[in-house]
Amino acid sequence: MLTKEKISPFATDTLKGLTAQNKYLLPKYFYDQNGSKIFQQIMRMPQYYPTDCEMEIFSRQGAAIAKSMIPAQSPFEMVELGSGDGLKTKILLKALTQMQLNFTYTPVDISIHALDELESDLQKQFPGIKIKKKAGDFFQIMKDLAAQNGSPKVLLFLGSNIGNFMSEERDVFMKLLSSMTTRGDKVLIGFDRKKSPDIISEAYDDPAGLTRDFNLNHLLRINHELDADFDIAQFYHHTSYNPFTGAMKSYLLSKIEQTVKLGALNEKIFFGKWEPIFMELSQKFNYDDIHLLAREYGFKVSQNFTDDKNYFTDSLWIKT
Ligand code: SAH
Ligand code: AVI
Repeated sequence: MLTKEKISPFATDTLKGLTAQNKYLLPKYFYDQNGSKIFQQIMRMPQYYPTDCEMEIFSRQGAAIAKSMIPAQSPFEMVELGSGDGLKTKILLKALTQMQLNFTYTPVDISIHALDELESDLQKQFPGIKIKKKAGDFFQIMKDLAAQNGSPKVLLFLGSNIGNFMSEERDVFMKLLSSMTTRGDKVLIGFDRKKSPDIISEAYDDPAGLTRDFNLNHLLRINHELDADFDIAQFYHHTSYNPFTGAMKSYLLSKIEQTVKLGALNEKIFFGKWEPIFMELSQKFNYDDIHLLAREYGFKVSQNFTDDKNYFTDSLWIKT
């Protein structure tokens, strides 16, 4: 059993979520080693259009994006929040290195495995690049970076990561983004756009069951790290899209009445039949949402880069 001093944020957050009246788990904990691997498979599956669309944007418009996002002065710092394996960032890095600019790339991620993989890939692909990886929760790391007054910054937040925040978290995130930037700094944010519910639904409930496995893996992580006994065969993956709000929500529902033990915390969690755990919000946006968000937190939309199907937009903002 974990003593009080040894309780990790993962344990605290998991217990809080599973003892709430409406049970929930936090999506940042999807990404243990196995979760990061399943996410890479999700990105490769045809139904998960956000990766293909953002890839298309970067492949076709990468040089233009790189040119418009570099600050007027160098050296500058490019910080990527939730970089993952940096699949799309590598295209921008290629354009930046070809321009022979003096910059440091700081990938920030809670998944050490994803960061290590990214660092060793980059060292092979771009031997001269200065990398300053930071492992941890980006909320904490953003606070640290806000306290340092350094070179001009370009911030990247790709893949529609911004869609995974609930409204309060998004407010905290945007305030931090605002406080860690100064006038003229640039921010590039990936937004998944509102579109046909059928296309969105297939991306989050795919025929091969990869997204189901990604969600169930969160329960397996709780089993491994908190000595729990979730039987994943007794949980059902369910998604629902609300076209009014653009909220795509994922749940795991208990198929039976059951009690799950959290050994490391000496706790038991009761589930009624068909009781849900809210797993993730993947918010979708339209242009008005993007412009409003930028303005509310002291940014101006400088340019929107969009794919041919109009499914995804990388929006470049300037701090005013
Ligand atoms: N931006 C990448 C990866 C998206 S997956 C892309 O577009 O392909 C989301 C990534 O964000 C994961 O690697 C996950 O580990 C990271 N992440 C999620 N919440 C985080 C948090 N609170 N702090 C740091 N990293 C986080
Ligand atoms: C990382 N994030 C933007 C993904 C999304 O689309 O919300 C995570 C994901 N969840 C299920 N599939 C992909």
